[in-house]
Amino acid sequence: KDESTVSITVVGASGDLAKKKIFPALFALYYEVIWWQHFTIFGYARSKMTDAELRNMVSKTLACRIDKRENCGEKIDQFLKRCFYHSGQYDSQENFAELDKKLKEQEGGRVSNRLFYLSIPPNIFIDAVKCTSSSASSGIGWTRVIVEKPFGRDSDSSAALTKALKQYLEEDQIFRIDHYLGKELVENLSVLRFSNLIFEPLWSRQYIRNVQLIFSEDFGTEGRGGYFDNYGILRDIMQNHLLQILALFAMETPVSLDAEDIRNEKVKVLRSMRPLQLEDVVVGQYKSHTKGGVAYPAYIDDNTVPKGSLTPTFAAAALFIDNARWDGVPFLMKAGKALHKKRVQFRHVPGNLYNQNFETDLDQATNELIIRVQPDEAIDLKINNKVPGLGMRLDHSNLNLHYAARYSKEIPDAYERLLLDAIEGERRLFIRSDELDAAWALFTPVLKELEEKNIIPEYYPYGSRGPVGAHYLAARYNVRWGDLGI
Ligand code: BG6
Repeated sequence: KDESTVSITVVGASGDLAKKKIFPALFALYYEVIWWQHFTIFGYARSKMTDAELRNMVSKTLACRIDKRENCGEKIDQFLKRCFYHSGQYDSQENFAELDKKLKEQEGGRVSNRLFYLSIPPNIFIDAVKCTSSSASSGIGWTRVIVEKPFGRDSDSSAALTKALKQYLEEDQIFRIDHYLGKELVENLSVLRFSNLIFEPLWSRQYIRNVQLIFSEDFGTEGRGGYFDNYGILRDIMQNHLLQILALFAMETPVSLDAEDIRNEKVKVLRSMRPLQLEDVVVGQYKSHTKGGVAYPAYIDDNTVPKGSLTPTFAAAALFIDNARWDGVPFLMKAGKALHKKRVQFRHVPGNLYNQNFETDLDQATNELIIRVQPDEAIDLKINNKVPGLGMRLDHSNLNLHYAARYSKEIPDAYERLLLDAIEGERRLFIRSDELDAAWALFTPVLKELEEKNIIPEYYPYGSRGPVGAHYLAARYNVRWGDLGI
């Protein structure tokens, strides 16, 4: 019987992320992964709260998955009994020492493994890491720390953050989360590529004309403007979420599925990429728009956003990987807030021979593989098909795998997988520091240029398809953005 315990401390427990994602994910793990016997959850934050008040706050965020609804209330009660709260400052050794004492009481002398989830703003990161490591580390088990982006805002600040973190923690204790890596279809990408003979041989410049990675949200930065304005969409979405998908998409076959082997391949791809050029970037910002009698605000209407801010809420970019496999293939990224649809997907487009048999334009005479990460997960392969009849007319039809129709299970949230991996010490889906450096190296020059030159974003109406500049950028590389639908 395993006599060790796992204690998870959510630092920043009253924050949005904790309430929306971390506690619900911990609850789902609790009832899904029954072997995990001795565990305690602590919320830590500045506000004064009793254990009962924390439990009450957490209970409002919990729900059982459709296929696990039986005895849901009981499961919630059992889970809540394991949740405790400690109020303290993020930079107080003394307060963390008090937490340590409470953790020890719960651990009851067993081997204690401790995971700290830092769900706090970047300016207090280092203080909290210092206090965690010096006053609340486990004496006789492992201590791991999950950190959330932003990991700095450019190469220099990111390197400074890494250096500061490493004063208190070893690299193997640091789990840099990019929650996109925990998404089911991102996780599936390697399986799709490497275990299907019909895909892997085609996965190169010989057959792929372009790759598109599209992130689209149908809401603005409402409520998060203060944070967002210091970062903008390139740092918020592209430099991390979309670039991570790109790296997994484009990497060479790893030696094994071990974390280090996979991360080695990802770093290689990132380091083979050309730093992004200003002429390969289009930036936009949403403006107010009235539709159906409803007035939607502009980005700068948010009173946490400085007046006249030029921060992009939309960007399109063309990236290139200078290696033998991908030479000359444009990887186009598009990310935006307040667009007409909520969707994340990517696709690639190989060439085709039968152009003359299509009634529509040439661009349709191709195959496309579309992977829809969310919502409504799906993989679609567009094939050219003969329209039934005596003539030879072709059309573009779908072979589709819609997850909701194929799998009756509800898909676990990305945070569940990532938390479980952190507990199990599986680092595959976390970002290593050299990956982070390479990702910043790609984006830092252009980010600096955008800011130094005060580039004015192209304004697009809230709820629209985004700036038209994105189409010109794609057209320069003979690409047409795929429709967001499948
Ligand atoms: C976060 C960004 O990392 O990802 C947010 O900071 C964005 O701006 C969010 O809304 C999107 O995550 P998801 O899982 O809802 O697609």
